[in-house]
Amino acid sequence: MSRFSGTAAVRENPGAFQPHPSSDQTDRSDRSDRSDRLRFGHTWPLSAVAVMALAFSACRGSVSTLPPVHIWHGMEWQPKYHDQGESRFFADGRAMRPLVPGTVAHGFLDEDTVFYRGMENGQYVAELPLAKVESALRVDSLAAVMQRGRQRFNIYCAPCHDTTGNAQGLVVQHGYPTPLNLSSQDPLGAPDGKLFGYITDGIRNMPPYGPEIPVADRWAIVAWVRVIQRSQHATVADVPAAERGHILPEESP
Ligand code: HEC
Repeated sequence: MSRFSGTAAVRENPGAFQPHPSSDQTDRSDRSDRSDRLRFGHTWPLSAVAVMALAFSACRGSVSTLPPVHIWHGMEWQPKYHDQGESRFFADGRAMRPLVPGTVAHGFLDEDTVFYRGMENGQYVAELPLAKVESALRVDSLAAVMQRGRQRFNIYCAPCHDTTGNAQGLVVQHGYPTPLNLSSQDPLGAPDGKLFGYITDGIRNMPPYGPEIPVADRWAIVAWVRVIQRSQHATVADVPAAERGHILPEESP
């Protein structure tokens, strides 16, 4: 029914919307009976439900900036320090304590300077510590160490040095400073320990790879750099006599 027909009905017959006189005169005794029952019989469970509904109404679905209702707190709230936080207990105000000088994490003592630094008594070692590298890589020959080195070199070094060490890797073609040609004399003359040091700590424009390449893999790469250098300076005398017949003549440019 629309509003207009409704008001029209009121206008035409005002009495129709007044409460019926008889409805006001309900049996009084009956009514008071009921309210008594309400007051004493049903009120408290009803109000308990209302209180619970109010108490839990904010738990689900509604947005609140307050933390959710926690009946049991467990250990969720407790005094503690956050990373880089402030402490009023320590004189320097830092919650995070600096390490005692000389602290070494368990398993990181790295006492073996030959294997971990490529140095012995302050001098670079001339040759890679083959037995230790083999056991760390779980291989049993220098050839296997070299193969591992080749694979690692092509991943980590070739982007700049190129797979042949000629310093024309893709990164260089896109503008990175040109590295030393690995087949040149300088690194060839350097002891293995020094080469290991270049890889570990970087040198001038070359970033350090110690944090990325595990120790034994760095030594394997040293072995492969030696292969590259040797191959670029090889003579016919380096080829086993039985194989010499298979060497192709150099192509003229
Ligand atoms: C991001 C490019 C880049 C990568 C990757 C890189 N190098 Fe280099 N490397 C250079 C540059 C540039 C130089 C020349 C540094 C200079 O003289 O400023 C260089 C120099 C060298 C030298 C010669 C150091 C000397 O002057 O005697 C050696 C050896 C070397 N790199 C080995 C490696 C090995 C091994 C790897 C892989 C673990 C490697 N590089 C990875 C850029 C790179």
